[in-house]
Amino acid sequence: MHYNDTEIVVKRSSKKRSRDGFRSGLTPSCKRTSSTGGQCQLGATKMKEYIEATPEGKTLEYCSDNEDLFGDYDSILGDSSFMAKLDDAEQYMGQLNNNSTRQSLKDHKPKHTPSKTGTHVTMEGLTDSILAGCLEDESFPDLPSSQIEFHQKVCENERAKCQSLDGGHTSTPLVKMTREVSAPDGINSEEAPRPAPKARRSMANAIKKAMLGNAATSSSSAAKIAQQQKEMLVTEEINIAVQTMQSVSTETDLGPFFGLPSKVKDLIGRLKGIQDLYEWQKTCLTLESVEQRRNLIYSLPTSGGKTLVAEILIFKEILCRKKDVLFILPYVSLVQEKVRGLASFGLELDFLVEEYAGSKGKFPPIKRRHKNSLYITTIEKGHSLVNSLIETARLDSVGLVVVDELHMLGDGSRGAVLEMTLAKVLHVSQSTQIIGMSATLGNVGDLQRFLKAENYSNDFRPVQLKEYVKLKDTIYEVDSKEEHCLKFSRLLNFKYSNSLKKMDPDHIVALVTEVIPLQSCLVFCPTKKNCENLAGMICKYLARDFLQHKEAEKATLLKELRECGNGVMCPVLKNTVPFGLAYHHSGLTSDERRLVEEAYSAGVLCLLTCTSTLAAGINLPARRVVLRSPYIGADFLKRSQYKQMVGRAGRAGIDSMGESILVLQEKDKAMAEKLLSAPMEKCYSNLLHDGGKGLLSLILSLIGLNVAQSLGQLREFLSGTLLGVQQAQISPERSLSDMAAESVETLREKGLITFSADDVDSSVLLITKLGRASYKGSVDLTYSSVLYRDLSKGLEGLLLNSFLHLVYLVTPYDMVSQCKPDWMIYFRQFTLLSVSEQKICATVGVPESFVARKAAGQTVKKSQAVDPEVAGRLYLALVLHALLKETDLWSVSERFQLTRGFTQTLLSSSSAFCSCVLHFAEELEEFWPFKALLSELTRRLTYCVQAELIPLMEVAGVMEARAKQLYNAGYKTLAHLANADPSDLVQSIENLFKRQASQIVASAKMLLQEKAEALQEEVDDLLTKPTDLPSVGS
Ligand SMILES: Nc1ncnc2c1ncn2[C@@H]1O[C@H](COP(=O)(O)OP(=O)(O)OP(=O)(O)O)[C@@H](O)[C@H]1O
Ligand SMILES: [Mg+2]
Repeated sequence: MHYNDTEIVVKRSSKKRSRDGFRSGLTPSCKRTSSTGGQCQLGATKMKEYIEATPEGKTLEYCSDNEDLFGDYDSILGDSSFMAKLDDAEQYMGQLNNNSTRQSLKDHKPKHTPSKTGTHVTMEGLTDSILAGCLEDESFPDLPSSQIEFHQKVCENERAKCQSLDGGHTSTPLVKMTREVSAPDGINSEEAPRPAPKARRSMANAIKKAMLGNAATSSSSAAKIAQQQKEMLVTEEINIAVQTMQSVSTETDLGPFFGLPSKVKDLIGRLKGIQDLYEWQKTCLTLESVEQRRNLIYSLPTSGGKTLVAEILIFKEILCRKKDVLFILPYVSLVQEKVRGLASFGLELDFLVEEYAGSKGKFPPIKRRHKNSLYITTIEKGHSLVNSLIETARLDSVGLVVVDELHMLGDGSRGAVLEMTLAKVLHVSQSTQIIGMSATLGNVGDLQRFLKAENYSNDFRPVQLKEYVKLKDTIYEVDSKEEHCLKFSRLLNFKYSNSLKKMDPDHIVALVTEVIPLQSCLVFCPTKKNCENLAGMICKYLARDFLQHKEAEKATLLKELRECGNGVMCPVLKNTVPFGLAYHHSGLTSDERRLVEEAYSAGVLCLLTCTSTLAAGINLPARRVVLRSPYIGADFLKRSQYKQMVGRAGRAGIDSMGESILVLQEKDKAMAEKLLSAPMEKCYSNLLHDGGKGLLSLILSLIGLNVAQSLGQLREFLSGTLLGVQQAQISPERSLSDMAAESVETLREKGLITFSADDVDSSVLLITKLGRASYKGSVDLTYSSVLYRDLSKGLEGLLLNSFLHLVYLVTPYDMVSQCKPDWMIYFRQFTLLSVSEQKICATVGVPESFVARKAAGQTVKKSQAVDPEVAGRLYLALVLHALLKETDLWSVSERFQLTRGFTQTLLSSSSAFCSCVLHFAEELEEFWPFKALLSELTRRLTYCVQAELIPLMEVAGVMEARAKQLYNAGYKTLAHLANADPSDLVQSIENLFKRQASQIVASAKMLLQEKAEALQEEVDDLLTKPTDLPSVGS
């Protein structure tokens, strides 16, 4: 190998390094092993091509990570390189131990941890001790003296270490030994042997020194410049080598519970009540792909216990690899539930749990030096978090991304956001592992290709599910072997009065009274109204006995429901709760929802009528699930929706089996048969959804983040998306290249990007300020220029003597279409405003005269017409304004004749949008006054309650009603809560169960700790001496 001494310039490129290459081939041994073919061969060949392609091998200008220097070290240093020797040593050791360790591993293997011996050897092949054993056996006649000296030092150190740890009885790799023998049941993390990062670092330094020494001796006659260049190359090599060594071998075995200390197992038993893992969970946790940290998708039916596997892997990543983890869940309520559930684990295992939902979460996240963080996020916040980490070059700090309900990739615009997030992680961070959980899918292969993941699937259900269909008065069992999928099961045995026949033609009362009140039942209904009506109807026909069942608990529930409505109570719930029934849909306030869910889980309520939203993720199983009709709204059920709903049947640990009954009309029979026998649904990319909005915003952020700066790089990125995988299926007529080019043009037209040259193909793509503000604020690109215009106009005459003007500016554009103003109410509210507030309305473009005419039913002249969007938005702003003033959701909803659920959604969407507008405004200098104003407004909208309750409501999942109870019981601050004894809480607060009390206290402790740590980090930052402090004479 030769190279030109004078003109080598090595640049690190931002170009993506092959993920596979990194994982499978980048360990030195692997590189060497495969240097006769495959990926590593490719790396070497490519490097050779680069060099040969330059005139007379003159300039090696571009050495990207893809053709990474470490992979091609032999092309630079030749076979005499020490790194090559390390490689050989490892390879040799790998082979040696493949045989010798097999036996010793078997001997030492803990019962819990089935292992794949071969893979362990590769995994652990890079530890100091391996090098020791290996280097001892091998001689290196062609090594320069500096390296031989170093080699001897390493050998001595390692020999000493081996002897001190295992008495020198074995040549088995040390770490492997540690994993296998040193952590019997009961040993905790403190007792388990720890890695020696310092030793590793010093070893790296020693290698570096030795190599530089080598470079010096071998090129004593070379020009100085070549020497410097060589040093650069060597440094680069070493960095990559050390990185690789760390990424593969920094996983510390801490104990016998899948590499974790037994304490984790105990905690799972204590906090979750799970004593033993299901077989599939054990298998999944010991999969070769899991042990080697390859990406993985695992699919199981609902209630299969997927979450626990993910959580164990999360603990491993945090404890054994000391990395942060991102856990993405589809809904805010699920995020809060998870934060509450995992806070105790965080406290016990010493990591932070940070909530990213609604308007909560910091971007970029606070850098923690002393602890690792588990970020639990919604899809949208997860995306912003990844963007902020890419921007600050910190994505590598996230070792693992876990996605629950991975099939959400196929769910409209949220699916698009999830796809963008994962594609960015795949592209930017080679060391971040991705794990997705999903219900069974028809095209998991596509997702595998997208995520470069392996798949594990199993049809395990802890409780057997029997599916039935009811047609007239006959129950059929669903049986795929039958011609129409249906097999006669029984006749429904129930005597109906004439009036009941009329009221309940579908025999719902008969179906539910077979199980309630002693067992639980969920009845899925097509609409919200239907839920309420059905709950009321069933109660009318229930025997009086039902009233006596859990009477006292139901009375407490009623009292709490009344309290959370400030004395007002939903009339339907007032009637149904005494019978043990309630409805559950998005029209409930979050407080009501929590109360209903808790009461159902505790068996106080035995039946919920609900919409399909209950099926998505919330863990509320039932002995029997009834699907009142095969529709959601006006749409016939999809297979996946059906599966989600029936999957709620069967409570693990309580029922021996669960059953579902789909109620059918004769007219729907044919469609239902198709539904029951249809193959599993497929999941498709949504980047092209809604006119390709997702694709546009993806491209904008890629340019903004400097991930892609040319059309070519964009195309390359897109080929790694799910859209790239499915392009031929989704859009056969438009290639990815066309899509990229068209999107780039659209972004330019919108003023969000510019080109450096006329010809887009050779242009560098640059983001404009508006573009940057849009992607930073996650603003829907349809609205970015409207938002800019509104904020600019707002600045010209911002009226701050009331919140109304600011609130108007952050009222979400996309909610306007969901609420038609009632002009009479509009006018009445308008007249109640102060003069200055009325002036605000006129300033934004809605004068009183217009509203008055509309209220009077008069036509409005064209010249006086008002943009209906603006009028609608102001109407919603009036609702929000009233909420901020009165903090009473119920009375405001009533005044505006809105359902309390809608008002609540409006409030939470506005607080989320307010934080988006804040991030948008922060990027544009001209909007500086908004910065302070909008941070305060976000806080007010997030906690639209009396100020004294805010500190309590910062705790995940503590809502207004609970905060009031706590406050009244004397728990007035976060510190009060964090230091509370859960048993005292249970005593002083009605209907609060011990488990919930413990979760509240744990969440409060976690939040307090997180805040304290953040302050500590700030102090440390302030007091740290800068490393680049100028010094005289340097
Ligand atoms: N090994 C186990 N032993 C007993 N119970 C378990 C075990 N693993 C999980 N569970 C319990 O089973 C229930 C369902 O688990 P989980 O929510 O993880 O299901 P899932 O597979 O994610 O289902 P879905 O698709 O509905 O979200 C939970 O209450 C969980 O605590
Ligand atoms: Mg789940």
